[in-house]
Amino acid sequence: MEEGYILSLDEGTTSARAIVWDKSSRLLGIGQFEFPQYYPKPGWVEHNPKEIWDSQVRAWKLALERANISPRDIKAIGVTNQRETTIIWNKFTGEPEYNAIVWQCRRTAEIVDWLKREYGDEITKKTGLIPDSYFSGPKIKWLLDNVPGLREKARKGEILFGTIDSYLIWRLTNGKAHVIDYSNASRTMIFNIHKLAWDQDILEILGIPEEILPEPRPSSDKDTYGYTDPNVFGAEVPITGDAGDQQAALFGQACFQEGMVKNTYGTGNFILVNTGKRAVGSKKGLLTTIAWGLSKNDIYYALEGSIFITGAAVQWLRDNMEFIKDAAETESIVSMINSNEGVYFVPAFVGLGAPYWDQYARGLIIGLTRSTRKEHIVRAVLESIAYQTRDVIEVMEKDMNVPITELRVDGGAARNNWLMQFQADILGKKVIRPIIFETTALGAAYLAGLAINYWESIEEIAKLWRVDKIFEPKMSEVEREKLYKGWKLAVERSFSWAKLINL
Ligand SMILES: Nc1ncnc2c1ncn2[C@@H]1O[C@H](COP(=O)(O)OP(=O)(O)OP(=O)(O)O)[C@@H](O)[C@H]1O
Ligand SMILES: [Mg+2]
Repeated sequence: MEEGYILSLDEGTTSARAIVWDKSSRLLGIGQFEFPQYYPKPGWVEHNPKEIWDSQVRAWKLALERANISPRDIKAIGVTNQRETTIIWNKFTGEPEYNAIVWQCRRTAEIVDWLKREYGDEITKKTGLIPDSYFSGPKIKWLLDNVPGLREKARKGEILFGTIDSYLIWRLTNGKAHVIDYSNASRTMIFNIHKLAWDQDILEILGIPEEILPEPRPSSDKDTYGYTDPNVFGAEVPITGDAGDQQAALFGQACFQEGMVKNTYGTGNFILVNTGKRAVGSKKGLLTTIAWGLSKNDIYYALEGSIFITGAAVQWLRDNMEFIKDAAETESIVSMINSNEGVYFVPAFVGLGAPYWDQYARGLIIGLTRSTRKEHIVRAVLESIAYQTRDVIEVMEKDMNVPITELRVDGGAARNNWLMQFQADILGKKVIRPIIFETTALGAAYLAGLAINYWESIEEIAKLWRVDKIFEPKMSEVEREKLYKGWKLAVERSFSWAKLINL
């Protein structure tokens, strides 16, 4: 075929995926491999960069094999990634200097307490973010302060920092490109989202030398970040798309107009509303973030509600509690009971993100009685996903000052029909699921394809979006408010826990 294909690499929190797409956005081949999670202490989360890379390589090999094409048939590559996760590696050997510190990791809580106290408002004004352990800047500081000899190596110009996209592109190009796109940069808490540059004041506060940082670039880059090394990829292919997974999903959902909202149900839930060319500040605990840059002068912003643990709580039911064999089983289990019987689950495993921002909150199950069964806890876990979403949608409406009428959904847990119906019921809004779930990878493919005119415009892309199913709210107003009130009471009881008991 003359027109070729686009490959997206979607390196998530729990697995690496690679997908081959054609021009009509058909998924021709997918490869996916999970990699291990490391929890060296309560609240700490790490990945091994080599395991991330190996899973990613296996994933694209399998995707190409399943699509029955060779690396030469790929016209461009788009990269998308778990955001904020921080890697420092040796510039000459590519060896990681430490494990990747994952976005969920709370080890920097005390650094962040200090930042909040001294510089909170200034940081929010410049970066759009509310200081939290979530973001990369404090993780870089932690590495420089705690890994023996690392500061010295930084001084000598021997190391590089990157988020996962930077690391993958660096390795794909065999060390030729050290870049980050604006959407990923906007999650580091050291990037000025208005000036599109690393912020010198914050770098100084954190003691981070600018030389180790990647070059910020548009998310769809006609100038190309770099070309894959044939020894690595099997052909020389331009890498032209890069965005954080949540921004890529907003793009893949074709939320191109101001006011359009998507919610991705993955490890966590991430609700983003496109605010067009304006960076809208939040009064209510949302983050202002760069959605994407189509060029240096064509920047779109979003308001984001980040919920840390949703699908991960379903994995916890499977792996830690052994209540279920697989995530899909939750759907039939909750259908066996018709009430939560007052049982609520608050998945504050790594504190709480939007809109609470409590680094010290911890998870709880409340309302247990002698009749509570496994099914009630499974149900409470699914319900918590929907309640947390409502928490964010409510503040989003207040910040935007307009009602949100519908929600486009995607991600693994959006497959769960019971959850999607409950979501529509708890919101009192329409929930719309498109045919393609892999919107994160699709968004990265679109960004890469736009840069080489594989797709000519976002209008062309918007036409490719198709509905699978619309969930209409059916629950009575009284029932909805009663259930939600219970959640609000439960969530309050999780606040500050790790601090109160001095963990
Ligand atoms: N039918 C289901 N019901 C409820 N939860 C589900 C269901 N299927 C998958 N999940 C949950 O969805 C998550 C996987 O979704 P997805 O693959 O979109 O995650 P992801 O966030 O992209 O992963 P990563 O963080 O690695 O990118 C898992 O946490 C899983 O527990
Ligand atoms: Mg993902």
